[in-house]
Amino acid sequence: MIQRFVYETIDSTNREAFRLANNEGAQKAPFFVLSKTQTEGKGRVGRKWESEEGGLYFSLYLRPSLEIDKASMLTLIMAVAVAKAIHKCLQVKLEDSNNYTLEIKWPNDIVLNGKKVVGILTELRCDQDGYAVVIGTGVNLSQTRFAEELQEKATSMKSELGISISTEILLKYIEEYFLQEYTTFEKIGDLSFLRETYESMLANKDRQVRVLDPKEEFLGIARGIDEMGRLLVETKDGQIQKVYAGEVSVRGLLGYVD
Ligand code: BTN
Repeated sequence: MIQRFVYETIDSTNREAFRLANNEGAQKAPFFVLSKTQTEGKGRVGRKWESEEGGLYFSLYLRPSLEIDKASMLTLIMAVAVAKAIHKCLQVKLEDSNNYTLEIKWPNDIVLNGKKVVGILTELRCDQDGYAVVIGTGVNLSQTRFAEELQEKATSMKSELGISISTEILLKYIEEYFLQEYTTFEKIGDLSFLRETYESMLANKDRQVRVLDPKEEFLGIARGIDEMGRLLVETKDGQIQKVYAGEVSVRGLLGYVD
């Protein structure tokens, strides 16, 4: 089992992971940092991640051996691991698994019945020995109130399905699935082994997307991902554009996913 550092409250588990690795008596990879609440939970693009009690907030600190340009793929691996772990927990709670949809909005948001339920923020730091990655994950489990601007697009397991999931069991499955996939990834060096599984969960698949590229915004149909985790978007003229995570953002045409 991967070593865990558990807190009642902390500013951000991502920040704490880097601190633990860099302070005197530096902690060696891999390890988890978990906290019941975060006072400055970080979201993507400088946003705040609401982290009140009742959610699962954790960061996984790793020192991958693969080239640094492959690090962004770890986020997709974590998304698949978390989605599988949620399915597993729901399987035992719900008799009918057709009562919900759980999908990945490329590259790494997990959406339950069309609303975001998991966010992942991967941060990277280079040093003289290589690089470190912190994969920070927030799962909305029992929150029932969301900030006004999030109400339309965020949800939790509890508000959507009326179900309580144990953070301990969920993390156990996440760790199990992540380690399986990470071991294969370190051997193979790309996402070819995970492509089919990822695409089977991809909310954007065969749907229209708006690619918010700072250079040029365009519309197309998302067809899947390639072995590097890039989104394959078919444009009007039948060309396939490969979209890198991190550079652009992808939206549905109507709402968050649709
Ligand atoms: C997103 O904006 O979708 C990413 C949200 C990531 C939130 C998690 S909660 C645990 C970890 N610690 C942080 O400060 N952020 C991540």
